[in-house]
Amino acid sequence: MGTSPTIVLVGLMGSGKSTVAERLASTLGVALADTDEIVESKVGKTVRRIFEEDGEAAFRAAETEALGAALASGAGVIAAAGGVVLSETNRAMLNRARHESGAVVVWLRADPGTLVRRTRRGVHRPLLDGAPDEAITTMARERAPLYAEVSDASIDTDGLTVDDVVGSVLSVLDGRGE
Ligand code: S3P
Repeated sequence: MGTSPTIVLVGLMGSGKSTVAERLASTLGVALADTDEIVESKVGKTVRRIFEEDGEAAFRAAETEALGAALASGAGVIAAAGGVVLSETNRAMLNRARHESGAVVVWLRADPGTLVRRTRRGVHRPLLDGAPDEAITTMARERAPLYAEVSDASIDTDGLTVDDVVGSVLSVLDGRGE
């Protein structure tokens, strides 16, 4: 048994990445990195304020730096914010981590209805301010091929508890002989 590989969770807003990543990191006893948190501490503003005051492009640039920092940090579990897959640079970074460093990227999926319900409480999601159902449905359609392009496995999280999803992620690792 070697050390477990870095696990990167990707997926839309509300797919459970942050919650599952936290539980996974504490289960495995490894460090956790969350790209939204890295962005907020580097820029010194919340995600919402960055969108409002500096614009989405500035947020995306900070996000690319944050993803690089997370992958370089040695964290065992990384929660990558929903939009990281939009950038080709970020997708290349994730694929390099998979192929050169053995990172395992897991795509957490859920139906749009589940995602909308789960995102009701989040304040860091300005892209859902208007019509969240429509926004999520469009994102799900546009981003699915991008998540597929960077992930080793996907988990349908509808109806699963956080512990169920953690178990499924651990099974993905087991399946890879870890
Ligand atoms: C975004 C996802 C959010 C946050 C920002 C934009 C996206 O993170 O980075 O609101 O474009 O999908 P979570 O996926 O952690 O909610």
